[in-house]
Amino acid sequence: MDKGVVQLAPSILSADFAHLGKQVGEAEQAGADRIHVDVMDGHFVPNISMGAPIVQSLKRVTRLPLETHLMISDPDSFLEEFVEVGSDSLLIHWEGNNNLHRTIQRVKALGKRVGVVINPATPASVLEEILQDVDQVLVMTVNPGFGNQNFIHTTLPKIRRVREMIEQIKPGCDLEVDGGIDATTSSLTVDAGANVLVAGSAIFGANEGVAAAMERLRTAANQKKT
Ligand code: DX5
Ligand code: ZN
Repeated sequence: MDKGVVQLAPSILSADFAHLGKQVGEAEQAGADRIHVDVMDGHFVPNISMGAPIVQSLKRVTRLPLETHLMISDPDSFLEEFVEVGSDSLLIHWEGNNNLHRTIQRVKALGKRVGVVINPATPASVLEEILQDVDQVLVMTVNPGFGNQNFIHTTLPKIRRVREMIEQIKPGCDLEVDGGIDATTSSLTVDAGANVLVAGSAIFGANEGVAAAMERLRTAANQKKT
């Protein structure tokens, strides 16, 4: 389906951390809409990545919104910290959170955008009672924890289902996808209803450079289906 211009959210997980400011600057110059920051604790997912100091440093070098994807076991303990250092939106997993509604209300009370994230094995139906309270849904198209994994094609019908739910319950809510997004899979997800694409390795791991990779992705994503 055509949801207008597709937004790009480069994930810095695949960036060269020794040149992070430069690479984010290139993404900003090339028209990125937001920067996606993957926070992992080695417990919620089997990998450790980065924390609030990275957000704090990025805030000084980019005007782009910083969205923080919290792949951690106890997100409630870190909400204030991320907001204080400059996160503009917080993405909270449905999995493992017994009080998701409370977490989401706390992010809203901190004055930030909030999104709910669902893993590949989690059905769209769990969103029914929480959709009205969020600004975006993030459908994981790989199992979270690592960059550069293969896109899971069986998530496509779920993306369509989430798009239908959004149109019924919360029109205007962003539908973002994350994992294995490249010039081929991007158009599949957009066709299914996604309007924001997270991409790490396809942008920061591309030999052609950040700007050319983003242009390729944008062109593919905005290609209208016939
Ligand atoms: C995976 C992260 C993703 C990751 C995507 O757990 O949530 O944001 O950076 O990387 P690619 O685009 O390489 O699949
Ligand atoms: Zn992510």
